[in-house]
Amino acid sequence: MNVIPPTQTQYRPIDPKLLGNDFDFAFDLYYKTSVEGHDQFLKFSGKTEQHRDKVRRLIESGDLEEELYVNEQDVVTYYQTVTGTLQAFILDPKIGFEQKAGKVYDLSRNVMQEFFQYQAAPSLLKMAEPVMDMMDQVLSEKSVGFAGLGKILNKDYYTYTHSVNVGLYCLTYATKAGMSPGDIKEMGMGGMLHDAGKVEVPAEIINKDGKLTDVEFAEIKKHPEAGRDMLAGMGCFGEKILQMAYEHHEKYNGVGYPQGLRGDEISLAGRICKVMDVYDALTTRRSYKAPLSPFQALGIMKQGMVVEFDVQILDQFVKMLGEEN
Ligand SMILES: [Fe+2]
Ligand SMILES: [Fe+2]
Repeated sequence: MNVIPPTQTQYRPIDPKLLGNDFDFAFDLYYKTSVEGHDQFLKFSGKTEQHRDKVRRLIESGDLEEELYVNEQDVVTYYQTVTGTLQAFILDPKIGFEQKAGKVYDLSRNVMQEFFQYQAAPSLLKMAEPVMDMMDQVLSEKSVGFAGLGKILNKDYYTYTHSVNVGLYCLTYATKAGMSPGDIKEMGMGGMLHDAGKVEVPAEIINKDGKLTDVEFAEIKKHPEAGRDMLAGMGCFGEKILQMAYEHHEKYNGVGYPQGLRGDEISLAGRICKVMDVYDALTTRRSYKAPLSPFQALGIMKQGMVVEFDVQILDQFVKMLGEEN
């Protein structure tokens, strides 16, 4: 992860395409320019009607080469606006599944990238609920299952991409396992937020390619508890979500962390998250390894790693992956 130079910390790049046809937003947009070698942010548009016209023309012209930014204080408002716009988009019967799912996926990743890379305030994580809600609507429209998910997911390894992928796997697993609508949404949110505590681990350790030292690994091991505490502190997330953050590194044979729980001492949500977490990690591209195919990943999980998982969940997942939709 790049360290953001201090001069840029107050402005965040946005994706103007996500604003769609909603020009009625309550934040200023900026563009970047260079003055004597230093970055400066100048106002591109404000909240007046005249300025909205300018943004409308820009978006309609499709000439979106220029990067636009919002002020740090407006980040949450920006994401709320985009979410509102997307709600209408996903209800449009003329638009295809892949296009809808792709947009919600991009938005979800932008939210998590904002959180991890720019260390946005945890309140941004509340966006997990509307985005997983939209994903649930889009995915259930065609009941696409894991086969359909494969068409949307990006397999580059970033903590933010991984977070959203695990969220979508958990959401789909919960749907196929016949959980209640409330539980399905909670499983999706829990998957999306399972690694939230990594925001407190130094980026050099998270992104290190080689083997971690004992000291570095001890730092990594703090993330389940840090995530659970952060999410619990917000007071708006259900029990399953907290369990998924806290227990996704527990292993079924009792040698995981942080608590060393064994078997059914680990919550059902935690056991499901564990399977999805490992599956996404294995099927993801890293700088030092190519992504494994689903077949190869499941082979490893069913052999060398099998003692780490609840075998019933793993078998169920293998079956679901094999289904057409
Ligand atoms: Fe983790
Ligand atoms: Fe993870």
